[in-house]
Amino acid sequence: MGNVINLKVNGLNYSVDVELGETLLDVLREKLDITSPKRGCEMGECGACTVIMNDLAVNSCLVLAIEANNAEIYTVESLKKNGKLHPLQKSFVDNGAIQCGFCTPGMLMSAKALIDRNPDPTEDDIKEAIAGNICRCTGYKPIVEAIKKAVSTMKKEGS
Ligand code: FES
Ligand code: FES
Repeated sequence: MGNVINLKVNGLNYSVDVELGETLLDVLREKLDITSPKRGCEMGECGACTVIMNDLAVNSCLVLAIEANNAEIYTVESLKKNGKLHPLQKSFVDNGAIQCGFCTPGMLMSAKALIDRNPDPTEDDIKEAIAGNICRCTGYKPIVEAIKKAVSTMKKEGS
């Protein structure tokens, strides 16, 4: 028998019927059609499924749907505002931080969670924040650079 959970995703309220073993990743992708969180290892090791849940970056493959009851979730779909890319997204594009793109949504949400709690992170803070996100393409340097540049853009814009 299913259980109904309530959750707020990208500012919208949902009630979803879930099974006991279902994960937050399953709910987002299969039931809400929010497909930016990627299904990678499903073991908490690659970070491709990272979303922000109650202000923290979490691996949605490790969160049971029932644990997400009443949670507030944000995915990459929330970043673009009025047709404009978020400074983090723009910086990833401008700095060659996206190659195949599989890791990108998770990277962006780890970076977003970091700058939400610390608008002036050091390079070490950035590296620590994305330590759980694996990228097989870029060698990480362009990603760290992109986050640093986005931080400085956001400081200038006061956003
Ligand atoms: S799919 Fe969740 S950590 Fe890899
Ligand atoms: S861009 Fe391909 S895994 Fe990161």
